[in-house]
Amino acid sequence: MSSLYRPIVAIAGLNGSLGQQTLKALLSPEFINDFQLPIRVLTRNLSNLDGNVYYSADMAQYLYADYDDPEVLDAALEGVDVVINLLGMYPRSWIRLGEAAYRIGAKLYIPSEFGPDHRYFNYESPFAEKQVQSNHARGNGIKSVQIFCGIFMEHSIPSGGHLGIDLPGRRVTAVVQAGRPEPRVTFTSVRDVAMTIASVASRSPSSLPDTIRIAGDTWTLRQLGEYYQSLIGAGVHITTQDYSTFSQLVLDQNIPVLDQSISGHYQLAAGAGLLDYSNEWASAGMWQWRSIQHLLAGI
Ligand SMILES: NC(=O)c1ccc[n+]([C@@H]2O[C@H](COP(=O)([O-])OP(=O)(O)OC[C@H]3O[C@@H](n4cnc5c(N)ncnc54)[C@H](OP(=O)(O)O)[C@@H]3O)[C@@H](O)[C@H]2O)c1
Repeated sequence: MSSLYRPIVAIAGLNGSLGQQTLKALLSPEFINDFQLPIRVLTRNLSNLDGNVYYSADMAQYLYADYDDPEVLDAALEGVDVVINLLGMYPRSWIRLGEAAYRIGAKLYIPSEFGPDHRYFNYESPFAEKQVQSNHARGNGIKSVQIFCGIFMEHSIPSGGHLGIDLPGRRVTAVVQAGRPEPRVTFTSVRDVAMTIASVASRSPSSLPDTIRIAGDTWTLRQLGEYYQSLIGAGVHITTQDYSTFSQLVLDQNIPVLDQSISGHYQLAAGAGLLDYSNEWASAGMWQWRSIQHLLAGI
């Protein structure tokens, strides 16, 4: 993006949903010239890289990470400008990584978000821990940019245990609030999340907002069911489930909030209309965002 600012970037959490795609995006023709290479890639298990694309040493430097050992983390991150947290739901490790980013003097921290914009939830959820990590990083004085994207498209369409979507089984169930229109739900391709991360990482931290919502495509589940019906020329059973009843199931007071079902929380947020985003991040023609039609057409 800028020829003057070419940050050194580290990603943490190679082996999850976003690691490989984010590394690919950082090293894509669209962004590779925006960064100093190699990209630092932190993983807890260097011998567990099977099945991953392995980049040469001038492109990616694979480093051992121990989130309980500050010295190991600091050594792996020394000199890094941008720390990208792609870890799963491990709040303790998030805090440790954010603290290491601060200690080594990173200019930008991208926390592990990539889901719902939980700032608007009016009930307790496991996602609250995500806000804690950003508040902590900001409290330390490091710029932290939260990226909210709704649901990963490829994880939920054509079939996702969360959100009640089962297109192969020709069934869709939407959680709906009584007397309210059926909510729209944002689905974003993992690749588009990764490209957005690369795009954010390439920019001067002072030019960035604290939060960004992105949206690959935003549909009601009924629209999704009806579209699939028209594609296959056979009926899809579309039903609704009452929000109040569903929320009692998900927000079970007998289960500690961190142990509650993440999938249930996604479905609840969708039902509350809290996953209805529009795209705040223009790719300025650098890449084409994947739509639900693209996904279902295998594009
Ligand atoms: N919006 C959506 O639909 C959606 C779906 C899935 C995930 N997400 C979000 O995407 C982010 C990544 O999720 P994910 O599904 O990829 O998570 P994950 O598979 O559970 O974990 C990602 C990586 O974190 C590292 N890791 C595992 N256990 C760890 C521990 N105890 N401490 C520190 N690191 C550990 C591992 O990387 P190494 O083995 O390389 O160390 C692992 O591959 C999360 O913020 C998650 O909430 C969003």
